Amino acid sequence: MISQHRPALHLAPAPVETRHSDPLLGHYQQVRRRTEQLVAPLSPEDMVVQSMPDASPAKWHLAHCTWFFETFLLSEYLPDYRAFDPTFCYLFNSYYEAVGPRHPRPQRGLMTRPALDQVIAYRQYVDLHMHSLLGQDLGQAAREMVELGLAHEQQHQELLLMDIHHLFNLSSLKPVYDSQWPRDPAGRRGRFKAQAGGLLEIGHNGQGFSFDNEGPRHQTFMQPYEISDRLVTNGQWLEFIDASGYEQVNLWLSDGWATVQAQGWKAPLYWQATPEGWHEMTLRGLQPLDPNAPVTHISYYEAAAFAQWAGARLPTEAEWETAAAAGQLEQVDDAAWQWTQSAYSAYPGFQPAASAVGEYNGKFMVSQMVLRGGASITAPDHCRLTYRNFFGPGLRWMCSGLRLARDARPGGVKAPATKPEEQSEFARDVIEGLSAEHKHLSPKYFYDATGSRLFEDICTTAEYYPTRAETTLLQRIAPELAALIPADAALVEFGSGASDKTRLLLDAAPQTALYVPIDICRNALDKAALQLRSRYPRLNVAPLVDDFTRALHLPSAAKGLPRVGFFPGSTLGNFTRPQAVEFLRSARTLLGRNAVFIIGVDMVKDPETLVAAYNDASGVTAAFNKNLLTRLNRELHGDFDLDAYDHLACWNPEHERMEMHLVSQRAQQVNVAGQRFSFAAGERLHTENSHKFTEQSFTELATLAGWRVSHQWLSEAPQVGMFCLF
Ligand code: AVI
Repeated sequence: MISQHRPALHLAPAPVETRHSDPLLGHYQQVRRRTEQLVAPLSPEDMVVQSMPDASPAKWHLAHCTWFFETFLLSEYLPDYRAFDPTFCYLFNSYYEAVGPRHPRPQRGLMTRPALDQVIAYRQYVDLHMHSLLGQDLGQAAREMVELGLAHEQQHQELLLMDIHHLFNLSSLKPVYDSQWPRDPAGRRGRFKAQAGGLLEIGHNGQGFSFDNEGPRHQTFMQPYEISDRLVTNGQWLEFIDASGYEQVNLWLSDGWATVQAQGWKAPLYWQATPEGWHEMTLRGLQPLDPNAPVTHISYYEAAAFAQWAGARLPTEAEWETAAAAGQLEQVDDAAWQWTQSAYSAYPGFQPAASAVGEYNGKFMVSQMVLRGGASITAPDHCRLTYRNFFGPGLRWMCSGLRLARDARPGGVKAPATKPEEQSEFARDVIEGLSAEHKHLSPKYFYDATGSRLFEDICTTAEYYPTRAETTLLQRIAPELAALIPADAALVEFGSGASDKTRLLLDAAPQTALYVPIDICRNALDKAALQLRSRYPRLNVAPLVDDFTRALHLPSAAKGLPRVGFFPGSTLGNFTRPQAVEFLRSARTLLGRNAVFIIGVDMVKDPETLVAAYNDASGVTAAFNKNLLTRLNRELHGDFDLDAYDHLACWNPEHERMEMHLVSQRAQQVNVAGQRFSFAAGERLHTENSHKFTEQSFTELATLAGWRVSHQWLSEAPQVGMFCLF
């Protein structure tokens, strides 16, 4: 992270004073000067290198924009104009076949000649002559060509920044281009907004400048749709990564999947995993990733996979344009270009210009996807709502992001009125819970990928004692527990996750023959099994992917072995009383009559300690609680406004439990799972119970389920308990 600030490159001021009556001349001077300002932080060496075939050296950009004015204006309209250097047409022609052959694009970085000062002299020479041209009475065609040349130079200003960004990212020094470069605008997550669709017009209406590909304006039909008012954030992208988005083939287009494999993509282009967490290479150098800023530098393939994962899709360019024109969208052109699902092709009636500049856009109308909007690096006043940017679907060095869209449900923003038997269990539970007089949801829905990660973070907060206290207790009593485990036992763990605490038991009880971890998460199980097999080579590890409250059959390897159940982590406290009794009963059936069952629970204690544990100062538990709403928005087409709910943790002395709620800050309506629900101001959504026990209350519960408590151990304060049942 070393700032490579060299003295600014000296570029002479524009050769003619800015006293001018024609606004076009003023515009010309302004655009040309900005290009020079953009290269000011660069060293001459920075300006020569080409970091990849798609990128160009800054020196080449400086010269090429100048070549455009020389070729399409001065040579055409200024009598007796003599080219600055006849070789430059070959060197700085980009792709105009009509103008003649050119230097190969992938080898632009080999142009050590002409030297930078010659390129600067070229710019000044052309500027001088452009000033004389613009001082004349120019016809309409020439004026339009000047406008095009300026829009073209603005495009190269953005390319120049993209290319420097790419080059600096490849540098081990991670240079800072400009420490003052503005940060991407961060903020809340997007909300879907319903759009009526219908027969509408898109495209440029011919008033003022536009590129040829933006017209003609024409009618297009759109089904009703919904479009997010903001761009997808880095935080949302992290959730996609955590949910193994880059590894799930079913989310990806075939070409996209092939590219992910070939390139080894695991994150957006400029993300970098560091010991201090994710960072992102920016024009301000390497910076910690801002979860609330829009995700940028992603390919079309990644955008499409993310949308698929989010239960949405990318908008078409017509959807994007009509929603933007209706003032429905934020972050239209100040953050990142937004991938659309529209392939780049000609609008009905499109005709490229007959002259060489007809090659400007038309000939690229295949194999590329359209991006709309504009980016933080786009030149000021360059964007229009009709602007059609385009790139190949696998490229990601441009400042590209995404906003989500989805098909509208019949009847406005509602999800389809699915028959109850077609709804997922999640949707049914949500509808049932939000329709109840006291709104509630099961805490089991906390644990999507982000929720699981947040729970791990909770366990490391200073206030949340149960995990630490239980681990210390287990370390202390492991020999006593081991003495209760018979020879050749099968150890069955319910909701095993990473099996961290199990190791304490396995270390102390080498007589264990079989370990059956049960968890709904295959990834976690596979990972844990791999580690355990290498740590305990003589142990048979037979994982069971299942909802542990429902697991009914143990693997055949458990047949005939004495069984020991293990259920640490106070998870029993998250069940309702009837659920807890039911679970203990079915565990008894599963383990068999002679089994031993070791269970860890949290004990009743002073409310201050309890409330602090569920309302940590750093807000991790609050984020964990609110993540439930994010999950509802993503998986059940919800439109919860996360900022309109507060996290609440409170002690319920009557039921001896900690409760978590989400409290609606105001009267509001939400749509989720195809239904609309009203929240009054202050109304609560009850999201979790965490029952705390006394020795007596736990014994009563176990007895109700047919178990007897044989041993019990308590930790130091804050107290948690370990009970052995048989
Ligand atoms: C998983 N379970 C035991 C935790 C508990 O304490 O009830 C979940 C949790 N909720 C908020 N903080 C932690």
